[in-house]
Amino acid sequence: MHSTHVPLAVAVERVDEEDAQTDHGDGTLRAGRYRRHIGPMVWASCIFGFSLALYGSYYYTTYTQALQVAAHLDLAQNADVSDRWRDRTRDFDEEVDVSEKFLLLKAKRRRLVQWATGNVLEVSCGTGRNLELYDLRPYDAQEKGGYGRSRRTRITSITFNDQSDVMIERAEAKFDALEAQRPEAQRFNGRVNFLVGDAGIKGVIPRPAGGYDTIVQTMGVCSMADAPAFLRHLGELCRQPGEQSEWLPPEADDGRGGKILLLEHGRSYYSWLNRLLDNGAKMHANHYGCWWNKDVGDVVSQSGLVVDRVRRYNFGTTYEYVLRPAQGRQTDD
Ligand SMILES: C[S@@+](CC[C@H](N)C(=O)[O-])C[C@H]1O[C@@H](n2cnc3c(N)ncnc32)[C@H](O)[C@@H]1O
Repeated sequence: MHSTHVPLAVAVERVDEEDAQTDHGDGTLRAGRYRRHIGPMVWASCIFGFSLALYGSYYYTTYTQALQVAAHLDLAQNADVSDRWRDRTRDFDEEVDVSEKFLLLKAKRRRLVQWATGNVLEVSCGTGRNLELYDLRPYDAQEKGGYGRSRRTRITSITFNDQSDVMIERAEAKFDALEAQRPEAQRFNGRVNFLVGDAGIKGVIPRPAGGYDTIVQTMGVCSMADAPAFLRHLGELCRQPGEQSEWLPPEADDGRGGKILLLEHGRSYYSWLNRLLDNGAKMHANHYGCWWNKDVGDVVSQSGLVVDRVRRYNFGTTYEYVLRPAQGRQTDD
């Protein structure tokens, strides 16, 4: 610290002396001003720099120690670590809030779920981080209150699923609290279900007549041991190409079936970042119950679903997909 701030402090004094020599009339005034305004800034920068260096080295030491401990864990890549989500003592929202803000994920979640229409299923919903982002206001034919979605874009029913009962309890409490805050006329008037169970197992989530129009899955592929099979099953739960929609008028149905909206995190475009993800993967999976180094593009192509749209953000580590069921797939009705 000494070697950093002493020369800067001296530099300030020199400026004062030069001013005093060149302009005797107002030199004292200016020197006083420099002392008041530049001095504290230099000190503040030094303290800030020192704290940052201290925090950085503390973080680096803790991180490398945790990596060494994790190296001895008996965890194969993509092993099932989803039991971490059953821990009642943890506040999962608080744990991910900072990183989600840093990666601007809320805006991406909002944009994705606003494409949800008709019979909606959100699988592996966790604590319900997307809940507040759905537009669940009821259809209002006369648009009296200036709210309400059109007949074609409204959500008619919504089912939230997670295999952890702890997560479903939290999501349900969040949903009730959000609805209670809304004026009565703007509360959701469709059917709402909360369903505990492994969404990858056939029959756990019953397929409604005509299938789901929209299936939402955010940050869940990282937690699935067999993610391609999981996505394939979501394709079966979706309305199939050519299948009649329960609620859309035939002229508004493009005949391509329902859609699967995916927001995921995984491998980057860059090998230096992938090395960091690979090195920390076991440690992260053991604590957070998710493998952050999966190649989501690979998972999607193995699922056989049709890619309608794909976008990547945050050095390629955030994946946004709109997927459709493939033609001719069997459903598990
Ligand atoms: C990383 S969290 C994501 C939570 C939430 N979707 C979000 O965006 O914040 C992963 C969640 O997937 C759930 N999960 C993992 N495997 C599952 C499965 N086979 N069926 C249903 N939920 C599952 C976990 O219980 C956990 O709540």
